[in-house]
Amino acid sequence: MVGKVLAIVSQKGGVGKTTTAVNLAAAFARRGMRTVLVDVDPQGSVRYGIGLRQGTPTPGITEYLTGERALQEVLLATPLAALKVLVAGGIADQGDHLDFQRQVTAPGVLDELFGDLAARADIIVVDTPPGLGGIVRRVLEASAHALVPLQCEPLALQTTPQILRGLQDIVATNEALALEGMLLTMYEQDNPMSARVAEYVRASLPEDLVFDREVPRTPAVVEASAAGQPVVLRDPDDAASGAYVAIAGVLRERMR
Ligand SMILES: Nc1ncnc2c1ncn2[C@@H]1O[C@H](COP(=O)(O)OP(=O)(O)OP(=O)(O)O)[C@@H](O)[C@H]1O
Ligand SMILES: [Mg+2]
Repeated sequence: MVGKVLAIVSQKGGVGKTTTAVNLAAAFARRGMRTVLVDVDPQGSVRYGIGLRQGTPTPGITEYLTGERALQEVLLATPLAALKVLVAGGIADQGDHLDFQRQVTAPGVLDELFGDLAARADIIVVDTPPGLGGIVRRVLEASAHALVPLQCEPLALQTTPQILRGLQDIVATNEALALEGMLLTMYEQDNPMSARVAEYVRASLPEDLVFDREVPRTPAVVEASAAGQPVVLRDPDDAASGAYVAIAGVLRERMR
């Protein structure tokens, strides 16, 4: 288990994991923390959202684990000096992700990788595939902190108990893993359903398990995503940016 690792996980897909990972990482780095954003999702979405220069080669975890590249070579530079990114790598372009899964779930591989990164960074943010499959379990076994984005829509209520149970199973094997909290995402101010879900989640979970700030759904997040940049950098005055920066501040204090 590596103390500086924050895993972004959720049972459900499309809830804002990648958006959260990318923006928290950028927010940490903007505060001067040496940050590495790691993408263990074979979908490989991080590389399109973190502001890598277009057309640059993006070797990543696969190339490192097969020994084709040194760690230094796969820690890609981003527009922020303090932020490096380790993308999934060539595997993300292939249809079959089984090899990637086999590679990263091999015993000790992620522990060693995170350990090596921890020697160079203050914090490691890990974006994961949806669900609690093999890759996510391995990540959680090797992490000290987990954050669960929860989209403010009715289905969130059904999937929350599942992820909490899954996390409890993993905490049984990794006592050092702390659930930093559930983060309500894509909150729609003017949508009564969104408000009801947020209210219900807050009422049914322990208070310290849900972050005070919700991340609102804003056009700026969509625009930033289309432009391939974190919204906290592209549009710092946006309400979603404000929420991510505030949450990064809370996490930074807690993880000290
Ligand atoms: N605060 C927000 N405001 C507007 N759109 C958002 C917001 N957060 C996320 N989105 C959009 O919702 C979609 C899903 O978000 P994202 O890709 O971060 O989810 P994910 O959990 O990583 O998905 P997957 O499970 O497929 O990896 C994306 O199109 C993203 O741009
Ligand atoms: Mg994602």
